[in-house]
Amino acid sequence: MLKVFRCWICGETYLGEERPTDCPYCGADEEFLKRGEEYEEPDVELTEKSKENFEKALELEVDNATFYYCAYNQAEGPKTEGMFKRLAKVEAEHAEAICMFLDRDEPDINKKSDNCSHHLPDNLEDANRRETRAIEHYRKFAEEAEEPRVKEFFEALVEIEGDHLELHEGELAELEDTH
Ligand SMILES: [Fe+2]
Ligand SMILES: [Fe+2]
Repeated sequence: MLKVFRCWICGETYLGEERPTDCPYCGADEEFLKRGEEYEEPDVELTEKSKENFEKALELEVDNATFYYCAYNQAEGPKTEGMFKRLAKVEAEHAEAICMFLDRDEPDINKKSDNCSHHLPDNLEDANRRETRAIEHYRKFAEEAEEPRVKEFFEALVEIEGDHLELHEGELAELEDTH
C-alpha cells in the first residue's frame, strides 16, 4: 500500500510503499523524508543575513539548473541525457524550496540556454566547478544562519551538492577509462 512521505527540505510529497534512500525531487537524505503527518512548513521569520544568503543561493540554483538543461540538450546517450535532465530538475527544486523560505513564486528556468559546452568532459568539469562553488557558499550560509530550519536546509544542500560532485567525478573517471 502507498504511504505518504513529505520531504522536510523541499516540501515535496513522495507516494510509495517504502521510504526512498534519497528524496526523488531534491536529493535530500532519507532522514528528511518524514511521514506526511509529521511535516511542518518552514514558517520562519528570516534575519536580514538569511534573506541576503537565500537571494544568492537562488541565483546559484537558477544558474545551475539552466546549465544542466543545456548539458541535457547537448547530451548524447540515454545515461548522460537522463542524468543531466534529472540534475536540472533537482536544482530547479532547490530554487523552488528557497522561494518557499522567501515566500515568493517559483522562478522561471530557461530550458534552452546555451551556457554549456558541446563536449561531455567539459560539461562534467564545469558541473564540478559549479557544485564546488555551491557547496562553499552553502557551508558559509549554514554557519551564518541563526534560524535552525535555515541552518538545516543549507547543511542538507551541502550534502546533496556533494553527492552530485561524487557523481560527476565517477562519470569523469569512467570517461578516462574508456579513452
Ligand atoms: Fe526533497
Ligand atoms: Fe542545488
